[in-house]
Amino acid sequence: MSILITGGAGFIGSHAAVELLKDGYEIVVLDNLSNSKIESVNRVKELTGTEFPFFDIDLLDIQSLDEIFLKEKITAVMHFAGLKAVGESVELPLLYYNNNVTGTLNLIEVMKKYDVKNLVFSSSATVYGNPNQVPISESFPLSATNPYGKTKLMIEEILQDLYVSDDSWRISILRYFNPVGAHESGRIGENPLGTPNNLMPYITQVAIGNREELQVFGDDYNTEDGTGVRDYIHVVDLVKGHIKALSYLEENEGIETFNLGTGTGYSVLDLVNNFKEVSKKDIPYKVVDKRPGDIGICYADTEKAEKLLGWQAEKTLLQMCQDSWKWQVENPEGY
Ligand code: NAD
Ligand code: UFG
Repeated sequence: MSILITGGAGFIGSHAAVELLKDGYEIVVLDNLSNSKIESVNRVKELTGTEFPFFDIDLLDIQSLDEIFLKEKITAVMHFAGLKAVGESVELPLLYYNNNVTGTLNLIEVMKKYDVKNLVFSSSATVYGNPNQVPISESFPLSATNPYGKTKLMIEEILQDLYVSDDSWRISILRYFNPVGAHESGRIGENPLGTPNNLMPYITQVAIGNREELQVFGDDYNTEDGTGVRDYIHVVDLVKGHIKALSYLEENEGIETFNLGTGTGYSVLDLVNNFKEVSKKDIPYKVVDKRPGDIGICYADTEKAEKLLGWQAEKTLLQMCQDSWKWQVENPEGY
């Protein structure tokens, strides 16, 4: 009776593995290691003192996927596997559509074959496009401006259609805001390959001296200090939301969508200042042009997750900075 974690060697999947094991679940992890290292899986085993099966397979390889379901007693799936770099998705749209959409189609095809119909899916706040107001609630209109975001929207629609065709599926679509932080042990964390696209790993690399200065993308947004505002959420809070969603599926039929955020927005400079306080390092920065496609303000209305899942993020921005920094200091080259 195991939970299959696709993309379980990645940033969020590895943290989900730890929390699931901690809560007494058995797990099976699948990852093609295209954006991760096997070392993260070893660290999860070391941290939890637990062995579990790991399969180095690609979701595009439906035969191997089928063999996992044949071999393991899987009762539900947390589906994290996917490519996630917005800029890369503009350059390589076919790679993104194939990997994310076809990969998910293969997964649900095999789940259907083995009558495993409980699914938690990683979506993104990117599906809200450029919202007219904040906080953003689940009923806001959806749109996407890049292939990555479109894959998330397409998969959400595929899952809705799947449920219409067969209402014995139980599906949670989780729209993440901005996951940051790391496990408090400093043993697992975010391991971007190459130049980080996201703000927090960029800041930690500046602080440790791997990069000269942060580029702040624009300071004339309609926000308090002019820099972009986001809803940063600690990765451990985020994965606890997944476990609540999993329990919810076990007790409730249907397909539901939830925002996973804290409900509070912080600017780029808020993050820089909190990080400085925690690390006691200077973070030199330069304001440059806005990044194409960026929006000014994005934060979640978290009421639905609070009411239906009984879940709320708990960790503060300072804790997020503390844990990201510990991970960076103890793993200066990543895994
Ligand atoms: P990640 O890249 O660290 O983890 C994803 C994992 O999936 C990687 O280990 C990668 O090797 C694996 N993978 C990719 N394609 C695969 C395939 N075809 N077969 C098998 N394995 C495959 O990313 P993450 O930050 O942990 O994100 C997890 C999920 O959450 C993704 O679906 C992502 O789109 C979504 N998400 C992430 C964020 C974020 O800011 N981190 C925000 C919103 C949504
Ligand atoms: N930023 C900088 N400099 C950097 C990186 C980012 O100033 O070097 C700014 C951005 O302009 C933005 C904020 O920091 O205002 C956060 O940027 P991130 O790239 O960390 O996060 P985004 O909100 O742009 O995007 C993230 C994920 C996307 C996902 C989106 C919505 O990377 O995949 O959240 O969930 F789609």
